[in-house]
Amino acid sequence: MCGIIAGVSAEEIAPTLIEGLKRVEYRGYDSAGVATIHDGVIELRKDVGRVGDLERLQKVSEMQGEVGMAHTRWATHGGVTKENAHPHVSCHGEVAVIHNGIIENYLELKQRLAKKGHVFTSETDTEVIAHLLEEAYGQSKDPLEATLKAIKPLVGQYALVVMFRDHPGTLVGARNDAPLIIGVGKKELFLASDVLAFISRTDLAVFLENKEVAELTHRGYKVFNTRGAEVKKKVIQLAWELSDVSKLDYAHYTLKEIHEQPETVARAMVQRPESLAAFAEAIRDAGSVILTASGSSYHAALLLRSRLSKDAKIRCDAVLAGEFDEHEHFVDKDTVMVVFSQSGETADLLNAVKAGRRSGAKVLAVVNAAGSSLARESDGVLLLNCGPEVGVAATKSFTSQVMVGNLIADAVVGRDTVGDARKVAAQVSQALESEKAIRKVAEELSGRTDFYFIARGSRYAVAQEGALKLKELAYVHAEGMPASELKHGTLALIEKGTPVVVIAHSRDGFSNTISNAMELQARGAEIIGISDKEDPVFKHFIRVPQAADSVVPILEVIPLQLLAYFMATELKNDPDYPRNLAKSVTVR
Ligand code: F6R
Repeated sequence: MCGIIAGVSAEEIAPTLIEGLKRVEYRGYDSAGVATIHDGVIELRKDVGRVGDLERLQKVSEMQGEVGMAHTRWATHGGVTKENAHPHVSCHGEVAVIHNGIIENYLELKQRLAKKGHVFTSETDTEVIAHLLEEAYGQSKDPLEATLKAIKPLVGQYALVVMFRDHPGTLVGARNDAPLIIGVGKKELFLASDVLAFISRTDLAVFLENKEVAELTHRGYKVFNTRGAEVKKKVIQLAWELSDVSKLDYAHYTLKEIHEQPETVARAMVQRPESLAAFAEAIRDAGSVILTASGSSYHAALLLRSRLSKDAKIRCDAVLAGEFDEHEHFVDKDTVMVVFSQSGETADLLNAVKAGRRSGAKVLAVVNAAGSSLARESDGVLLLNCGPEVGVAATKSFTSQVMVGNLIADAVVGRDTVGDARKVAAQVSQALESEKAIRKVAEELSGRTDFYFIARGSRYAVAQEGALKLKELAYVHAEGMPASELKHGTLALIEKGTPVVVIAHSRDGFSNTISNAMELQARGAEIIGISDKEDPVFKHFIRVPQAADSVVPILEVIPLQLLAYFMATELKNDPDYPRNLAKSVTVR
């Protein structure tokens, strides 16, 4: 988590840093800070709050200097305070550092440094890096050498950027298990945790690998390995459409991204037939198949599991990436792992991929971010092509994942279940027409504190996704569960007025689900029906358009995304940046 951008330029750097920092704010937004070098000193401005607050209160874009760094934080070690915000500087103000990741042995390092007289002003793990750098720099007076030495004792994950007061034209960056990318402009160079941070300035990027160190100066950039030997790197041309991250006329990115789905779902259907065939062949020939992902992406993996199981009669596990250790012993060289991710940077996921690789598994990725660690480390990739997703809650990436999962299942079975992209886009547009009705439901239910989402069979994944969206955006307790499980405990929680969202399709266990809804209603529950068929048990009814079975989950989840969005706005929450969360979970 945490967003990083730093740059060396021929012009004042601060305005560019602020613009870039806003674009990576999805990675964390509890505090922010900027440092530049000007007139022989490192100037530092930081505080709790969002980048916009820092700009308004401390006019950071007016800071002078052609070299600088900026950071937006998602707290791991140490509370949300000004002192814990990045950048961190060394005792004598010679070195400033920004960091994304976790230094696991920071306590041990901190004690060692404190004994040598270093004074710590924050509770963060990051600050040890500033003091280690000060020690190392004191010996060599060389930025690159000092950084190579300072990162040696670090155990954990890091993407870090360092600035040295006495080398005002130099930035040094290093990475281990957290993304760090060089942006190569005509008159400026950047180091950032996501290409989005510099895409409006340049579309040329160099992706650092683990344990690589980059030195940026006004003359250019060089990349080194940990022994200090130069490494030749490839410059990658990025897709310019990545720079299209405006809200247009929408109140929030989340609402815009929900509304983009007719187009993004259709775009997900455009895949190279050879790539799909390669996925299908690998899955068919595998000794075992494991699907893995986190959060919403995991719900998409559950839907693929259901299709592979029911339609292709392939037994496979869907495993939460953070729980992969429990399954690692089943993985061998005949295993195929299908990994779902929007960002391609989720730490649990990359750890699962590493574990799978160690055991010889083949890794196939379904991912949105083309340049991500996951995309680069996989044997095969299918891209979601849904464009940047700025809202912290997954919306369009989830429906694209479900669609790509459908294409994979169809390729395995040798049957097209989804049909024509234009028709699917029209069905998604039709599902979005529920917006007005959903808004009314949200207005009516916004005071309720516990919601249940029930469904049967594969739709359980849709229920879980609906509950997750509501928790994230509205901050209300929500549980997604199989309708069949109600009688085994949860029914005890139902009282007069408890809202229960019932997802039922006329072609899939409708009457059983409706019976469960009636049992709930008899105990006072207020039923919100998400279905293609109306029923008297529904107090509120949201009609799901007619579509092929494999497309229906996409259409069912759209009203649930809208419900979470409107509940959030009713409750005056910011749906784009829910409290305590960050979009890309790069720590384990
Ligand atoms: C939920 C959400 C998260 C992500 C999860 C995985 O709305 O956004 O639960 O789905 O953190 O992230 P990716 O897909 O980037 O691996």
